[in-house]
Amino acid sequence: MNDPLIAAALAARAHAFAPFSKFRVGAALEDAGGGIHTGCNVENATYGLTVCAERVAVFKAISEGVRNFRRVAVAADTASLTPPCGACRQILWEFCGDVEITLVNLQGKTEIYQLKDLFPKPFDVSYL
Ligand code: THU
Repeated sequence: MNDPLIAAALAARAHAFAPFSKFRVGAALEDAGGGIHTGCNVENATYGLTVCAERVAVFKAISEGVRNFRRVAVAADTASLTPPCGACRQILWEFCGDVEITLVNLQGKTEIYQLKDLFPKPFDVSYL
């Protein structure tokens, strides 16, 4: 994979803790300086406390002081590429704005979206 962000998302997927769903996901964020921040899904025996790969990546980066992002990649093992869930779209919108999101699978198939197209009419701080 030529794109280091896609490679990072695929590599992060290897760390997924998904013993319940067996559905392993990796995510990677590129910050404004070109740095890469990764996450994987982390499941929980209560199921409801599971956190998706995208939110793990965002929260890791935010907790390290990073605030500006320009790209996101999400990796999963599905023929029809896996998009971020609704909760992750909200979090990505609030912390990343209208970022470019690349979806990828293990065969290297990719699709690129803008978050505004996946998440139209978002609620955000502008309404508060
Ligand atoms: N999951 C993610 O980590 N990201 C997505 O974009 C979709 C879903 C996780 C949550 C859960 O651990 C498993 O995939 C099945 O829903």
